[in-house]
Amino acid sequence: MKIVGMSGSLRAGSYNTGLVRAARELAPQDVEIELADIADIPVFNADAQQQGFPVAVERLVDQLRGADAVLIATPEYNYSIPGGLKNAIDWVSRTDDQPFAGKAVAIMGASMGNLGTARSQYHLRQVMVFLDARVMSRPEVFVGAAHQKFDDAGNLTDEGTREFLSRFLEAVRGWTEAVRRMSG
Ligand code: FNR
Repeated sequence: MKIVGMSGSLRAGSYNTGLVRAARELAPQDVEIELADIADIPVFNADAQQQGFPVAVERLVDQLRGADAVLIATPEYNYSIPGGLKNAIDWVSRTDDQPFAGKAVAIMGASMGNLGTARSQYHLRQVMVFLDARVMSRPEVFVGAAHQKFDDAGNLTDEGTREFLSRFLEAVRGWTEAVRRMSG
């Protein structure tokens, strides 16, 4: 099973990118998590789209098409999804036969506050409704007080969170199989 892991942060020591890396380490044996890169995607402009999709968008779309599921770690910026992540999703959504439709998606996030990106995750869920993605409802992953759970390089060090993440990834695998069965 192949899953694309997307982080909504470009920061070198990002907790959210660290969460995706930890997911890659802790995934069940038959699950491969491949990291997506949204850093080179320009700001969406419908006029530019008429000239064709940027290479970074095409690369992301190919990656998403080839995956059984997408795992997104979103930071929370001003109670919502970071612009860079929304921008990447907006570009992808403009492609023919956009790849989120019918795709298994799981969402997680980390922040220093107590709510662990809950508000941002619910905005992302709303976006995924329009894209007709099959978003896993539960378990949810709200990693609060992230500065106490990751080291300075953004590696997840908190044992309890790592154990929770392992169980979450088992659920993601089950959800992805269920979505596959549903789409026949
Ligand atoms: C934040 N941060 C933040 N945190 C939060 O819990 N709720 C929020 O609404 C915001 N808003 C916000 C806006 C902007 C512009 C920035 C840059 C930051 C703090 C944020 O959660 C923190 O910087 C995280 O470390 C960002 O995630 P990464 O980069 O560590 O993955």
